[in-house]
Amino acid sequence: MQRTLRIAAFGVFLLQCCCLDNFLLAEANENGSGYQPLWSNSFGVPFVNATYDYVIVGGGTAGLAVAWKLALSGKYDVAVVEAGGFYEQDNGNGSVIPGLAPLQGLGWDSNHPAPLLIDWGFVTEPQKGLDDRSLFYARGKTLGGCSARAHGAFMRGTKGTYQKWADEVNDPSYEFDQLLPYFKNSSTLTPPNHSKRFPNGTVVYDETAYATKTPGPLQISWPNWAIPLGTWGSSGFENIGLSTSKTGFSSGVLEGHGWIPGTINPVDSHRSSSQSSFLKEAMLKTSLKVYTRAFATKILFNQTTATGIELRTEGVSYSLSARKEVILSAGVFQSPHLLMLSGVGPKEHLQSHGIPVVHDRPGVGQNLHDKTYVGTGFRVNVETSSSLDSPEYAAEAAHDFLYNQTGPLTNGPAYVAFERLPTSSLSPTAQAALQGNFSSDWPHIEYLIENGFSGNNSDYATSDPKDGYNYGTISAAISTTLSRGNVSLRSNDPLQPPVINPNYYSNPIDMELAIAAFKRVRKIWAGMANVTIGPEHYPGTAAVSTDGEIEQYIRQNSIMIWHASATCKMGSANDSMAVVDSKARVFGVERLRVVDISAIPFLPPGHPQGTVYALALKIADDVLRDAESP
Ligand SMILES: Cc1cc2nc3c(=O)[nH]c(=O)nc-3n(C[C@H](O)[C@H](O)[C@H](O)COP(=O)(O)OP(=O)(O)OC[C@H]3O[C@@H](n4cnc5c(N)ncnc54)[C@H](O)[C@@H]3O)c2cc1C
Ligand SMILES: *[C@@H]1O[C@H](CO)[C@@H](O)[C@H](O)[C@H]1NC(C)=O
Ligand SMILES: *[C@@H]1O[C@H](CO)[C@@H](O)[C@H](O)[C@H]1NC(C)=O
Ligand SMILES: *[C@@H]1O[C@H](CO)[C@@H](O)[C@H](O)[C@H]1NC(C)=O
Ligand SMILES: *[C@@H]1O[C@H](CO)[C@@H](O)[C@H](O)[C@H]1NC(C)=O
Ligand SMILES: *[C@@H]1O[C@H](CO)[C@@H](O)[C@H](O)[C@H]1NC(C)=O
Ligand SMILES: *[C@@H]1O[C@H](CO)[C@@H](O)[C@H](O)[C@H]1NC(C)=O
Ligand SMILES: *[C@@H]1O[C@H](CO)[C@@H](O)[C@H](O)[C@H]1NC(C)=O
Ligand SMILES: *[C@@H]1O[C@H](CO)[C@@H](O)[C@H](O)[C@H]1NC(C)=O
Ligand SMILES: *[C@@H]1O[C@H](CO)[C@@H](O)[C@H](O)[C@H]1NC(C)=O
Ligand SMILES: *[C@@H]1O[C@H](CO)[C@@H](O)[C@H](O)[C@H]1NC(C)=O
Ligand SMILES: *[C@@H]1O[C@H](CO)[C@@H](O)[C@H](O)[C@H]1NC(C)=O
Ligand SMILES: *[C@@H]1O[C@H](CO)[C@@H](O)[C@H](O)[C@H]1NC(C)=O
Repeated sequence: MQRTLRIAAFGVFLLQCCCLDNFLLAEANENGSGYQPLWSNSFGVPFVNATYDYVIVGGGTAGLAVAWKLALSGKYDVAVVEAGGFYEQDNGNGSVIPGLAPLQGLGWDSNHPAPLLIDWGFVTEPQKGLDDRSLFYARGKTLGGCSARAHGAFMRGTKGTYQKWADEVNDPSYEFDQLLPYFKNSSTLTPPNHSKRFPNGTVVYDETAYATKTPGPLQISWPNWAIPLGTWGSSGFENIGLSTSKTGFSSGVLEGHGWIPGTINPVDSHRSSSQSSFLKEAMLKTSLKVYTRAFATKILFNQTTATGIELRTEGVSYSLSARKEVILSAGVFQSPHLLMLSGVGPKEHLQSHGIPVVHDRPGVGQNLHDKTYVGTGFRVNVETSSSLDSPEYAAEAAHDFLYNQTGPLTNGPAYVAFERLPTSSLSPTAQAALQGNFSSDWPHIEYLIENGFSGNNSDYATSDPKDGYNYGTISAAISTTLSRGNVSLRSNDPLQPPVINPNYYSNPIDMELAIAAFKRVRKIWAGMANVTIGPEHYPGTAAVSTDGEIEQYIRQNSIMIWHASATCKMGSANDSMAVVDSKARVFGVERLRVVDISAIPFLPPGHPQGTVYALALKIADDVLRDAESP
């Protein structure tokens, strides 16, 4: 079966190459290493100064969607600058096969191996609220950015979420109904193929939430496999009083339980990232230039007008000028970092690092909004990812994936539920703060059924006990966190990573919710007694039962769910902490926008990538409109 696996690995590799065939000239040797990509429409000019209409910094989730739309207009020269390369080559099947996503160096322990060819390897400051742990914070350093690292869950926030956004930025175009066209035309939805899922893995969703007329290149579908543990989710969630979601989490309502779709290409069951969707189409149809392994070190200004960027490839520095605009899409940590390195940020902080101030903007890097999650694990009597430890099972899984696009390796996201806690279960302080800060349809908690053993969340590649049992985990993520952190400069050297300080649990209400959620998780498991074997395996009720013990467990075992946002938050002109206006233009300077998750004013509930893509396409429309009538 070793042989089968190797063949499978190579086969996937070949499939990928075929997919890229039209715009990639490449030589691959027999074992798939030593692969030398020659990008016919991006090489030729790197390492020398050049001028474009638009220069986009960061070929990640948002950056490539913006690039696609600007390039497809056919009117402008557009360049994208990305520090990484192509994940298909740099990390192979691990990044391409949805079921392998959790094994790509994920977990909080900064000592476990991170795949540094596709990840920045960021580590947070020691977090007081997490028992002084410093957490490895995965961020994609590759075309596709975090869409190439993510587990692929695709959903949208609630109507109230977007109403709050519209209110905060004083622009009704952020209301759900007005964003819907962008949500819709970013993607193509393929209905689930129920003949490939178990008969008990039926999906409920609202097809009117997806495009019929002008679908976009991002592929959304359901895995050709329903995780067996997920099929038991309904009995667990009914045990805490939740019912089946009638709309499937993309219609502006987040309540109840159900299967979520994922960014999976239904044709080959491969990951659909911003690279394999937006970039691929743009490279086939337009003259978009892509600079890979190109690290942007500075935004260049003439007075307060952004004129281009400085960047480095393999140690060589050069510059790209932008006739029209520089668009910063470097993500939640690096968009504010690059702004500060270039002189836009809190004045005193910049000066303390010897950086000349272009514009004093106190909100840059502040307002970091993130959430944590943690859960409990059981032995279960259905197959989970634990079974992949068996070579025979793994070989079969690889075979099913490769030759039939089915089986456990197709699995990305799975079964989730959203809940607003009963008001009576919250302290009066929490009730008031939550009511004041979040809309009334904003769920407090998201529960996730995980197809394997997460243990203490330190490293998913090694957490499974590998003792012949199948393990499952149910975790809870807090969607209404009130703690806020920040990103700041370590030094004025652009190659030094920023200081990342999420301040988890610095607001005690977040801990109150986490403790309540932990207890609900136990109750969910109690409703799944038909599938569990023995008592709770981790942490175990003997070790953790009092509120004090639960709190301690949460501090020692929580991980972030990689959703950090809002470090260059959008706001109205009179909000001194806002960094960009409702067209994502940086206040106080000209010809510079920030378009990625850092520009969202807060972290929406659920999983954010759908919102990031919609924002990118919405702002790209603004950019095109502004180009017509500046
Ligand atoms: C492990 C993991 C799992 C996740 N799971 C999900 C999920 O299931 N569902 C969901 O909705 N969301 C998920 N997310 C979150 C989601 O992927 C991110 O919120 C979203 O993709 C962020 O998009 P972005 O455009 O803001 O940034 P990114 O996609 O991170 O893009 C930033 C890009 O800029 C590049 N860059 C940065 N600095 C520079 C520089 N100086 N020079 C050149 N290039 C630079 C980076 O390399 C990167 O490609 C997950 C994230 C992770 C990490
Ligand atoms: C993925 O590739 C790695 C390295 O080539 C190989 O060891 C592994 O078996 C492959 N997995 C699958 C499912 O193809
Ligand atoms: C793969 O090929 C390269 C170049 O031909 C060679 O150097 C390397 O040893 C090979 N690796 C394996 C694992 O066979
Ligand atoms: C669903 O899968 C079956 C094979 O299991 C296949 O025959 C059928 O064509 C698929 N349906 C669609 C709509 O792709
Ligand atoms: C492909 O998957 C379907 C659905 O699981 C199954 O019925 C069929 O036998 C599989 N075909 C092969 C060749 O494995
Ligand atoms: C997407 O929707 C927006 C808003 O309706 C529209 O302006 C744009 O042309 C659409 N784009 C595509 C590619 O259909
Ligand atoms: C659903 O079907 C799968 C596959 O047969 C099985 O493992 C699982 O236990 C079933 N779930 C329920 C709730 O019966
Ligand atoms: C900077 O802008 C001013 C005013 O628009 C212009 O006159 C000058 O030539 C610019 N300088 C450079 C170096 O481009
Ligand atoms: C390239 O741009 C840099 C500014 O980053 C400038 O110093 C250098 O002179 C330019 N080189 C050429 C050949 O124009
Ligand atoms: C929002 O929550 C904070 C606690 O973090 C609280 O101080 C504040 O009053 C709340 N806002 C409103 C409008 O209730
Ligand atoms: C987390 O659990 C693993 C076992 O899965 C163990 O090796 C590791 O030491 C634990 N880490 C901490 C910090 O407790
Ligand atoms: C970031 O937050 C930390 C902890 O709250 C604080 O000590 C530090 O001064 C802040 N840094 C900046 C630049 O605001
Ligand atoms: C769980 O098992 C009990 C007793 O064996 C049975 O009555 C019940 O229907 C099962 N529940 C589900 C959801 O299958």
